[in-house]
Amino acid sequence: MLKEKKIAVLGAGKMGEVLVTRLLSTGTLEKEQLFVTAKHESRVAYFREKFDVKGSTDNAEAVKNADIILLCVKPQIAPKVIASIRESIHQDQLVISIMAGFTIEQLQKAIVLPLPVIRAMPNTPCEIGAGMTVLASGNQTNGEQIRFAEALFDSLGKTIVLDEKYFDAVTGLSASGPAFIYVVIEALAEGGVKCGLPRDVSTALVAQACLGAARMVAETNQHPAILKDHVTTPAGCTIDGLLKLEEGGLRVTMIKAVDEAARRAKSLGSE
Ligand SMILES: NC(=O)c1ccc[n+]([C@@H]2O[C@H](COP(=O)([O-])OP(=O)(O)OC[C@H]3O[C@@H](n4cnc5c(N)ncnc54)[C@H](OP(=O)(O)O)[C@@H]3O)[C@@H](O)[C@H]2O)c1
Repeated sequence: MLKEKKIAVLGAGKMGEVLVTRLLSTGTLEKEQLFVTAKHESRVAYFREKFDVKGSTDNAEAVKNADIILLCVKPQIAPKVIASIRESIHQDQLVISIMAGFTIEQLQKAIVLPLPVIRAMPNTPCEIGAGMTVLASGNQTNGEQIRFAEALFDSLGKTIVLDEKYFDAVTGLSASGPAFIYVVIEALAEGGVKCGLPRDVSTALVAQACLGAARMVAETNQHPAILKDHVTTPAGCTIDGLLKLEEGGLRVTMIKAVDEAARRAKSLGSE
């Protein structure tokens, strides 16, 4: 459904590169459909070299012939970047923003024209196609435009559409979540090392345990507590380990981590 569309990626940074990589490698888009921008010419040159896509440091030039404008710059510079394209955008374009903390209302105000707008929150596992992207749409956006956005982000993993009121929570959980899990993986691997396992073996065992546990939750639809109970035999070793997790306050710490990240997400767009 995206085969006829031209996409301008404004801000070809880390996330921009993840998007371009997946969109091309999954065959969702052809390189001729993409135009990227960055602040520095060297970054644009890197994209030309690596992906053979068109690019420029001129955002206005990038959006002129685009059907979809993908805003991937940092939220702090969004007003400046949007101001630089305002004269070149037109009514039949769709704007998709992945900027954390930048609301649909802020986007619409900055764009001025009543363009359809979609807010997306992807996460870094998108790099390997195991990402999660949450989408929310503005009131000018129709069903077909939401399906365009879903088709784009489906190339990065899973996509769901939610009300924008959940976005700070989504940012704190889904976007920051992989970092929290990496800390858990690192800590569990240290546990393996403490018990005598070689570090690489220990890390591989933890990664596979996490992958397996995550798939059990996602694919069996069972509550995590039930799945945990299945591992926990009376007077066995798992219950002793769980006792240590409770003693260390793991649950409370995790809840507070998500809550704090969500609070920070709320303040990002107003900086
Ligand atoms: N990283 C994540 O996990 C994640 C997850 C979800 C959403 N996001 C959102 O994704 C956005 C990008 O994050 P990131 O981690 O990819 O940041 P990043 O690597 O710093 O990329 C930002 C890009 O914007 C470019 N840029 C700066 N000023 C510009 C201008 N005036 N015109 C055009 N391009 C300009 C920079 O160009 P140069 O390279 O030339 O300096 C850079 O390539 C942010 O809004 C963030 O909130 C990130």
